[in-house]
Amino acid sequence: MINLKEKIAEVLQKELNFTEEFRISINEMQSMIEIPKDPKMGDYAFPCFGLSKQMKKAPQIIAQELKDRILEKQRNDIIEHIDVVGGYLNFVINKSIIINEVINEYEKNNDMFGSSNEGSGQNIIIDYSSPNIAKEFHIGHLRSTVIGGALYNIYKYLGYNCIGINHLGDWGTQFGKLIEGYKRWGTEYNIEKSPVEELTKIYVRISNACKEDEKILEQCRNNFKKLEDGDSYCLELWEKFRGLSIQEFEEIYKMLGIKFDSYNGEAFYINKMDEIVNMLENSGKLIQSEGAKIIDLEDKGMAPFMAIKSNGSTTYGTRDLAAILFRAKNYDYDKLLYVVSYEQILHFKQVFEVAKLLDMNEKYKNNLFHIPFGMVLLKTGKMSTREGNVIKLKDILDESIKRAYKVIEEKNSELENKEEIAKKIGIGAIIFNDLYNNRIKDEIFDWDIMLNFTGETGPYVQYTYVRTKAILEKAGYIPTAKNVNYEKICDELSIEIIKFLYSFNETVKNAAEKNEPSIISRYLINLAQAFSSFYNENRIIGEDKETQDSRLYITEMVGSVLKNGLKLLGIEVPEKM
Ligand code: ARG
Repeated sequence: MINLKEKIAEVLQKELNFTEEFRISINEMQSMIEIPKDPKMGDYAFPCFGLSKQMKKAPQIIAQELKDRILEKQRNDIIEHIDVVGGYLNFVINKSIIINEVINEYEKNNDMFGSSNEGSGQNIIIDYSSPNIAKEFHIGHLRSTVIGGALYNIYKYLGYNCIGINHLGDWGTQFGKLIEGYKRWGTEYNIEKSPVEELTKIYVRISNACKEDEKILEQCRNNFKKLEDGDSYCLELWEKFRGLSIQEFEEIYKMLGIKFDSYNGEAFYINKMDEIVNMLENSGKLIQSEGAKIIDLEDKGMAPFMAIKSNGSTTYGTRDLAAILFRAKNYDYDKLLYVVSYEQILHFKQVFEVAKLLDMNEKYKNNLFHIPFGMVLLKTGKMSTREGNVIKLKDILDESIKRAYKVIEEKNSELENKEEIAKKIGIGAIIFNDLYNNRIKDEIFDWDIMLNFTGETGPYVQYTYVRTKAILEKAGYIPTAKNVNYEKICDELSIEIIKFLYSFNETVKNAAEKNEPSIISRYLINLAQAFSSFYNENRIIGEDKETQDSRLYITEMVGSVLKNGLKLLGIEVPEKM
């Protein structure tokens, strides 16, 4: 598709680059162009306020002069007309050009409409989900999983090569405790059946025992030491706990449609520590402090980074550094994203700062990004383990499916495959709710809101998709682009939809640039709402053949973009509901 914003930028650039000090690149120019909130103001707007000082003229005058010059010298088919409003220069694009672009692109590329290959040849690693072994997969990990999964799809749609890594929390002193607890009471717990739950019970019991008896704590520490030294009994148990936990996590991933390219977690780096420690030593910044080895970050305004503890064990942070090194060598990444709660902001700041000290290509050091997100709040407050009101994720997903099933029963009990459909709606509702607001905001978890079929929800978008399918089915055919008469798409609501469709690619790009899937969720709600108005105001079937074909074609395109957009978020659509 032609990039209309770029075309406008070119036109403006030609008029503005009249003196040396006024060299503005096309990219800069593009970033100065805005899309007016009110479509009546035009398709693009160029604010002249910023130029006022340099040009020593009022913004309105600059806008007026630009308009006159463009009309005089650069008349083209793309711009229908130009208006000066306040200090803005507003552009209205020729509608048939937009219609033509959208329809041709759709005809060529329908399944991948809005995709591009701007990322081709670039490797992006996304580190997401990353739960801790033998600990409950909680709703915070769900956010990481869902946001990370969406980013994976979004970047892929833009042609990037994505590598999804589940950096499991599968190492740490807690394993010393688990091994001790299992040794003592393993037979009392059926860890094969529900591993995470049973292991958690063992963990709580042994932790309490440790508090009462210093000797037990000593034994736990010993176990961890043995594990680190490669003791076969301890390793065997560790592997068992790990394997069973992963199996359980995978059930959730399957429900959510999430896949990883690697499950290399913290433990994977244990035998790769010497190299990273050597590099830290070589940096000359590693200092001894009370038996531990740390890196002072005071000049950066941060607490010191703990590299090696006084008992010789490595830390979460050092393992992250080893992972950076390994990922650089093995994946040659152009970007490495960590989708992890905002509670770890300091951790990543420290890790990224220390990574700068390593003897490694600049590219790897400068392209580490923490993608933080907010908490999930119940209507009644924070979900936390300590207060005992933590909700198991599997139960939440099951509950959502159950509730969706009930709604289907009420609305359309005749439907075939109700269970299948309830799964798509129930899970889709949870994912959409998770991705609807700006990720950094805390999310409110409220069943009534997220399963509402008419609100700003996943089910509403799915429902709109299903409606497009029903219309096409009723018509009994899907017209081709050749049947579309552009004259029949002139009404405001049709044009609004065409413009939405035109902006899909830009929306996906924007979501990638800001690592913000909510940009896509919001787009989908707007598109679905625009379609509902279109549908209410226009007879799709039953007008003259040309009008019907044109409207059916719009319907088909909207359905396809809703489906693709949801797919980017990791949500499937039912064909009926
Ligand atoms: N396992 C950690 C947690 O649950 C998250 C790990 C994130 N990834 C990383 N490379 N540090 O808090």
